[in-house]
Parts: sequence; C-alpha cells; structure tokens
Amino acid sequence: MTQRVWNDVDDYIAGLLVGDDEALDKALERSDKAGLPQISVSPNHGKMLNLIARIHGARTILEIGTLAGYSTIWLARALPEGGRLITLEADPHHAQVATENIAAAGLADRVEVRVGKALDTLPTLDGPFDLFFIDADKSNNPNYVRWAIDHSRPGSVIIVDNVVRNGLVIDANSTDASVVGTRELGALLAAETRVSATMVQTVGSKGYDGFALVVVDG
Ligand code: SAH
Ligand code: DHB
Ligand code: MG
Repeated sequence: MTQRVWNDVDDYIAGLLVGDDEALDKALERSDKAGLPQISVSPNHGKMLNLIARIHGARTILEIGTLAGYSTIWLARALPEGGRLITLEADPHHAQVATENIAAAGLADRVEVRVGKALDTLPTLDGPFDLFFIDADKSNNPNYVRWAIDHSRPGSVIIVDNVVRNGLVIDANSTDASVVGTRELGALLAAETRVSATMVQTVGSKGYDGFALVVVDG
C-alpha cells in the first residue's frame, strides 16, 4: 500500500464523516496563506481527538503545540459549557494565526493561547487537566508527559502525536533528537507505575505515524 492509497482512503473517510467545515477549512487556508508548515493533524485524526475528549467528558484540556489552532478547534469543540482549553505555542507568528482561527471558529471564550516555550509556560499553569494533547518539539516529550502526569487526576488522558514517524522509533541507535525523545517517552511510560499506555500506528494523509494514548490510573 502506498501514500496515494492512504490519501484516497483518508479523503473517502473525511468525505463521509467530516465533510466541509467552514471554520476548520478556513483555519487551514489562513495557515497556508501565512506560510505555516502543513503539519496539522488530519481531519480524521482531528475528529478522533474530538471524540476522545467527548467520550472522556473533558472539561479542562491542555494542548502543547498549537500551530494554526486546527487541532485546538477540534478539541475545544468537545468542551461542555464552562470548559476551558489552554494551548501553548513557542512561535508568536503561529500563535497569532491560531488566535485568529480560534476567534473565527467562535471559540475565543473558552480557549487561551499562551506564547512561549512550553517548558517556560508550563510552570505558570495550574492543574489538574482532564486531557492533554502533546504535539510540539518531540525531544521534550518525556518532560511534557512527566509534567502532565504530575498535573493529572485519576482518569486523566494524555495523547502524544507522532510517536512512530515512518518506523524510525524502533532505531535504538538513532541520534535524531525527536527519535531519542520519543524512545525516552516509551521507556518512561513502561516504567511509570501510575499510568496505563499504548501506542497505535496510523497511516493516512500524514503518512505513516502513530500516537500514544495514556490513562493516569492514580
Ligand atoms: N497541534 C497542531 C500542530 C502542532 S505543530 C495541529 O495538529 O493542528 C508543532 C507546533 O509546536 C509548532 O507550531 C511549533 O512552533 C510548536 N513548538 C515547537 N517547540 C515548542 C516549544 N518548545 N514550546 C511550545 N511550542 C513549541
Ligand atoms: C511534524 C510535526 C508534527 O507534529 C506532525 O504531526 C508532523 C510533522 C514535523 O515537525 O515535521
Ligand atoms: Mg503532530
């Protein structure tokens, strides 16, 4: 199977189950116009994030890595009345595009974009959060997940994007900082007695990749 088939099937699924969505379509349009990289989650993956947040009944969500706010919009739409999402973004230009997209999606009242490197902004936040979506610099994934576990309640959910990366994750000798960070994350999850975790491989319009799904037990 090839990338072309994965694209076609992703389009088929999105056509069936996502469809046109003005706020999300415009968000990607603004992102492209502003020259941001095309690395937002796919529509089908975004909807999965929305469904997980709804299944979980998440009222407080923390996202690390906003980009243009595409995944932010999917997640924020899952919040119940009075729910809040905070999203952390290092690049002020990305944060500005995201802020516009979030406002245009009618979500400004429940989403806050914090600009700065996540390791600098995390200490300014109060937990706990019900759901974490971690999708920024992969080398810091162990730090972000450690912080998330320490700012959880029993039952909190942590999702980490891009943990497979074309299979690179199995290279124990890799010197790539992203791969090293992801493998350290895997070791941390294996050793951490307070969580249950899995990683799921995916194919689609974003290539061959995967996500980690973690529940904090106590
Ligand atoms: N979650 C987004 C995609 C995020 S792309 C979506 O699916 O729609 C990764 C983002 O993380 C980029 O915007 C990048 O600027 C940001 N980033 C990279 N390093 C960071 C750091 N140390 N702290 C916060 N954000 C960071
Ligand atoms: C990259 C980052 C992502 O979060 C993603 O989903 C795809 C690619 C990247 O940095 O290349
Ligand atoms: Mg990602």
